[in-house]
Amino acid sequence: MESQPIATTGGGHPRSGRDHARVAVLPGDGIGPEVTAAAAAVLQRVAAAHGLTLELAERPVGGAAIESEGAPLPEATLRLCRESDAVLFGAAGGPRWDHLRGDARPGAATLRLRRELGLCVNLRPVRAFPALCGRSPLRPEVIREADFVIVRELTGGAYFGEHARSGSGMDESAHDTMVYTRREVARVVGFACRLARSRRGRLTSVDKANALWSGRLWRDVATEVAAQHPDVSVEHALVDSFALRMLQDPARLDVVVAENLFGDILSDEAAAIPGSLGLMASASLNPEGGPALYEPIHGSAPDIAGRGIADPMGAILSAALMLEHSLGLPQAAREVRQAVDRALEAGILTPDLGGTSTTEEMTAAVLRALPAPATLGAGS
Ligand code: IPM
Ligand code: MG
Repeated sequence: MESQPIATTGGGHPRSGRDHARVAVLPGDGIGPEVTAAAAAVLQRVAAAHGLTLELAERPVGGAAIESEGAPLPEATLRLCRESDAVLFGAAGGPRWDHLRGDARPGAATLRLRRELGLCVNLRPVRAFPALCGRSPLRPEVIREADFVIVRELTGGAYFGEHARSGSGMDESAHDTMVYTRREVARVVGFACRLARSRRGRLTSVDKANALWSGRLWRDVATEVAAQHPDVSVEHALVDSFALRMLQDPARLDVVVAENLFGDILSDEAAAIPGSLGLMASASLNPEGGPALYEPIHGSAPDIAGRGIADPMGAILSAALMLEHSLGLPQAAREVRQAVDRALEAGILTPDLGGTSTTEEMTAAVLRALPAPATLGAGS
């Protein structure tokens, strides 16, 4: 099954017609370096086969940057990202830095990068892989036809509102404020509508309008924006019941749009459909242009870091999103997705998928499954 398009108009910086592009590689911590190396190898190969020369430049981020340069997001790392066409990101964080607080933490780099680059739209595609349908905790007949995209708002809400901790003893308290402006909601819902129009024309907007004031605003604005897209059929869902429905009948979904925190939670839950968090990719875009950032959603996984058994597919599929969205090579993206399907069908599986293969073996299987360069036309 060839899945529905994930790219759409607006956002990213399609580079078709160019023969050269710059990609910033930020491996970060834990399994980040292992999986970004795999994704970079696939990117290089596929780009070259399509006549695009990629210049990959690496910089530290997260805990690695704290160790080498004293800050989770050094200015030189941010500058490299700004000067690149796209960013390939691994993961930030690990137990070694758990004692740090606030902006000193490795994860602060992730949030700051999103804010600095204006990456307010986060795409997290969800589909069942034919070869793995039997491995999901959900029944194969429930997930087989699943193919949807979660559009998560990425620079607003509780992660970016005012935070504080005060008082002492049993009166000590903490708060995180969830603030949304009309502009922020309209921007991400508008993007989701355009994406839905390029796919099957269905949008599910998720909120908590029955309990949160920000949820009420979300629903009001989503309703207004949807009215400007008569060709898209829109439904509104409350996040709690939607969390169940998403797993009961995922095949009905096309595009799902949610605020930052809900999108974070729902996208990890959705990993039950492919069967492993290791398979989940993401693209973070600024709808006004500029470099986009591509990262697997699994994080640094310190328990398996350095053992060579991390699942590289989330990073490789993030590279496919980059080919489609930032590098103007949608055909190359399709080839990568097909190669991933073939590698999985051949049973080359890392331990998260129940196999015994290594990161390197799985990456080699994907490279082998790509079309031979000689059979490709120039460009795509
Ligand atoms: C993700 C991660 C991050 C997030 C963390 C590391 C801040 O969980 O990308 O989903 O919540 O956005
Ligand atoms: Mg998350």
